[in-house]
Amino acid sequence: MGSGQQVAVFGAYGHTGRFVVAELAARGYSPVPSGRNAQALRELAQEHGLEARMASAEDAASLDRALASAVAVINCAGPFATTTGPVIEAALRAKIPYLDVAAELEANLDTFAHYQDRAREAGAVIVPAMAFFGGLGDLLATAAMGDWTAADEAHIAYALNSWRPTAGTRLSSAVSRERRGDVRLRYSGGQWERRTDAAPALQWTFPEPVGVREVIGEFTMADVVTVPQHLSIPDVTTYMTVEAVRDVAAPHTPAPTAADRSGRSDQTFLVDAVVRSGGVERRATASGQDIYAVTAPLVAEALERVLTGRTKTVGVTSAGEIFDAPDFLHALAPYIALALHPQGA
Ligand SMILES: NC(=O)c1ccc[n+]([C@@H]2O[C@H](COP(=O)([O-])OP(=O)(O)OC[C@H]3O[C@@H](n4cnc5c(N)ncnc54)[C@H](OP(=O)(O)O)[C@@H]3O)[C@@H](O)[C@H]2O)c1
Repeated sequence: MGSGQQVAVFGAYGHTGRFVVAELAARGYSPVPSGRNAQALRELAQEHGLEARMASAEDAASLDRALASAVAVINCAGPFATTTGPVIEAALRAKIPYLDVAAELEANLDTFAHYQDRAREAGAVIVPAMAFFGGLGDLLATAAMGDWTAADEAHIAYALNSWRPTAGTRLSSAVSRERRGDVRLRYSGGQWERRTDAAPALQWTFPEPVGVREVIGEFTMADVVTVPQHLSIPDVTTYMTVEAVRDVAAPHTPAPTAADRSGRSDQTFLVDAVVRSGGVERRATASGQDIYAVTAPLVAEALERVLTGRTKTVGVTSAGEIFDAPDFLHALAPYIALALHPQGA
């Protein structure tokens, strides 16, 4: 456990950042809340008895001060198009690991493209999308692979009973849409394709009790960035239940509200990862409550493993590549229910 080590959390007073701060404190770390809003920072720091440090993405010296004496930084400040570069640069200067929870495809792709060489050369660890989207699906797909080194297809289907988006989710989606233009992305035949047709409406058979559900196919999320970075799979597709797509797209869907004392909402999720090779199918699924809240144990578990050397690589990397995926997933047992078939159980 953390033994009081300082971990900087940029974007700490956001909805997700708050879960991350609480999870780090519960694991024995000393979170250092950081961000650009003095009052929000002060209130959060007082609530947890912590020392906060003001910093802004535009001011490198302020980021250096925020990261001073920290053993790692977790970036929860999205839209990440603005924050990823400056916070990674600060982490490289401070020679500490960087993890983020970004689910912006363009920002995720940029991190791999722009920092891989420098990070490897420096022996630095940079883990983008270490969260519900990008992290959990990647771990499940990797665990489902078992002893396979390649597969024909990976499919990751999300069953969310509802999706009340935070302001950060809405802003990040808007930034992604603006950067991408009037197209959607899919990963097929080992390449990114820009498509202008409508995403397909399909049915997906989730494990019981969820069962057969209407989904939108090619609802491309961060797992489509992370999975092909390290698994030899030319077709990677993600799917989302239609109710959740409607919720997140509707302008007036309210933000999530707490349904229990930990602050979790009553949203439920099931993530179903299927890999196929030569007509054989392997599967791993995880279910739990609240996609924002569960991001905290995901990123905190990752941090703990990076700091204790339970890693397989350096550079810009994803959860499935750097960690032992089945072991990581089992460690999340208090937060997710897991079913791995047929390997790695
Ligand atoms: N991959 C996943 O599964 C996953 C899970 C959870 C969250 N996320 C992503 O994480 C981000 C945050 O989500 P959230 O739910 O925490 O949203 P939120 O409650 O709106 O919080 C956003 C936080 O980011 C900060 N921020 C935004 N732009 C900033 C900038 N330029 N400089 C400094 N701070 C900045 C905000 O501070 P101000 O108030 O000062 O703007 C706030 O603290 C979103 O992009 C979301 O999509 C992804």
